[in-house]
This record gives sequence, structure tokens and C-alpha cells, in this order.
Amino acid sequence: MKLLLVTTALAFSSVAVQAGDAGKGEKLYGTHCVACHQATGAGIPGAFPPLADSDCLADKTLTLTAPVKGLQGKITVNGVDYNSAMPAFGLLPDEDIADIMTYVFGAWGNTGGDVSAEDITAVR
Ligand code: HEC
Repeated sequence: MKLLLVTTALAFSSVAVQAGDAGKGEKLYGTHCVACHQATGAGIPGAFPPLADSDCLADKTLTLTAPVKGLQGKITVNGVDYNSAMPAFGLLPDEDIADIMTYVFGAWGNTGGDVSAEDITAVR
């Protein structure tokens, strides 16, 4: 019985380690992303695309790759064209980017789900 409890506790803690931490992600978003994408995630129309209610978020690979490698060239978000450049944040550890993207995918009515450090490693 004791062994079962320990095993269960381990199983739960490993899940908690894998999923990004939205609370930490919110702080990191405030440091690295807020200047352009804004605290509301609405961005600045015509200059910085929204992360709140953005039709781009459906493309999870693009959305996870943007903070890792940066993004430049033409992109259409919610019918508005952007042709600008976003810096890369690839120097941040996978865990930090996973926290940020877990926050982004869960904030402002978004429902993209949790992002793990492994998801970020996969797009490096
Ligand atoms: C200096 C301004 C700037 C900062 C800081 C910035 N971005 Fe961006 N971001 C942009 C621009 C500009 C684009 C569109 C690039 C293009 O035109 O190809 C973009 C596009 C995106 C996209 C894809 C389009 C969309 O709206 O879904 C995602 C996702 C994204 N950024 C996430 C982030 C995250 C997460 C951070 C913080 C780690 C961040 N950005 C920091 C300027 C910025």
C-alpha cells in the first residue's frame, strides 16, 4: 500500500514537472513579450500581431517556433497582414519558453493547452 502511494505521488509530480507553469510564464511574458504583444495579448494592430484570439495559434508548430527562432516575413493574423520581424528568444531555456507558451495558450480566453519543455526541444 505504501509503495502504491509513493508510486502515485511520483506519477503526479512528474506530470507537474513536465507541463509548463503558467504563473511563471506570466512573469516571463511580462519581461520578454509584453512590450510588443501587450498585457492584453491584443498586440498593436498593423505593427505587432495579437496573441489573444489569434487564428495563428491553431498552427502550434509556428506558434512554438516563433519565440525559439524568431519570425520574419509576411504573416496574416486574423485577416491583417504583417511583414515585420520578431527577435528570437532561443537563449532562454526550454522550460522558460514552455512556461511562457503555457501562459499564452491559457490566457485571454485561449484554449491551446499546456506546453512542455519537450515540445520546445522538438522545434529547436
Ligand atoms: C520586439 C517586438 C516583439 C517581441 C518582444 C515579441 N514579439 Fe512576437 N511577434 C512580433 C512581430 C513583429 C511578429 C510578426 C512577425 C512577422 O511579421 O513575420 C510576431 C509574431 C509572433 C507570433 C506568431 C503570430 C501570432 O500572432 O500568433 C507569436 C506566437 C509570437 N510572436 C509570440 C511571442 C512571444 C511568446 C514573445 C515573448 C517571448 C514575443 N512574441 C515577443 C514582435 C515581437
